[in-house]
Amino acid sequence: NLPQDVVIKEVGPRDGLQNEKTLIDLDYKIDMINQLSNSGLSYIEITSFVHPKWIPQLQDAVDVAKKIDRRDDVTYAALVPNMKGLERALEADIDEVSIFMSASESHNQNNINKSIADTYPVLQEVVDEAKASGKSVRGYISTVFGCPYEGDVSVDQVMSVCDRLFSMGIDELSIGDTIGVANPVQVHNVLSTMKERFDENHLALHFHDTRGMALANTLAALQLGFKTFDGSLGGLGGCPYAKGASGNVATDDLVHMLSKMGVNTGVQLDELLKAGQTIESFLDKPLPSKQMELARRM
Ligand code: HMG
Ligand code: MG
Repeated sequence: NLPQDVVIKEVGPRDGLQNEKTLIDLDYKIDMINQLSNSGLSYIEITSFVHPKWIPQLQDAVDVAKKIDRRDDVTYAALVPNMKGLERALEADIDEVSIFMSASESHNQNNINKSIADTYPVLQEVVDEAKASGKSVRGYISTVFGCPYEGDVSVDQVMSVCDRLFSMGIDELSIGDTIGVANPVQVHNVLSTMKERFDENHLALHFHDTRGMALANTLAALQLGFKTFDGSLGGLGGCPYAKGASGNVATDDLVHMLSKMGVNTGVQLDELLKAGQTIESFLDKPLPSKQMELARRM
């Protein structure tokens, strides 16, 4: 009993590119995002207004947001860690602001340079100001299924951070398997607990594919009725503050699987692959997804 329709949120231009060492030309980023916009995706996370010293690849965030062609039927989102980031995001007229933090203390500290307790007031101010400016807000919680520094993360700890994020007034929360350690049984168990407290229509899944489990984990979530999934074009990416983490589930592999299972995504695979080829041609290396690999062999 799977959902009929699923929303795929493309995070490749942010989560995918943030870990690429080679600085990518602005023009290539713009072409890639415009191609993604024309693939039927309704949501693209295009960049990140974090400190450019921490993520040099995305220092051109304002230019990216200003120079892409915006479609009315696509939401253009970006990560925002604090008020300085929000200032830049508003200048760039981003549609949706994504705040982020971790369920585990040490990943939060390494990623955003603050304790969990000190992060809440910073994010609350961002949410309040973003809302006052008419923006919707998405939240991310990282290390839900395991932390690169601490290992296991308790479901109680996860639930307590989720509670705080929802109480800030966010519209949706994306549940992150930052280092791709989840398995389908764990996904079933954690999400079943979450569904008791939160409406699954306000939850999204953000699976990284480090151990090749992301599609299996997606199926486990689908079977519980979850309908929103983050993906990264061609499987680009990783988290620079989670050693060894690799990209998200590939959007193209996700679209392929869902369409074969009769689940509608509204996304055209061939258009996605064109966007993948754009970025492959700049990076001069193959993207890791199965669909991109097949396209190269054709
Ligand atoms: P900090 O150094 O603690 O910042 O960094 P601060 O508030 O102490 O400020 C220091 C200086 O930085 C100040 O300048 C600020 O103005 C400036 P000064 O007065 O010294 O000249 N500054 C900024 N400049 C531009 N944009 C900003 C900004 N903020 C401060 N936004 C900070 C704290 C959060 C900024 C830093 O730690 C940071 O940028 N971290 C981002 C790390 C990151 O991007 N990680 C990857 C994304 S998260 C992820 O991938 C996980 C996810 O995909 C989900 C999953 O997979 O689990 C979302
Ligand atoms: Mg991520």
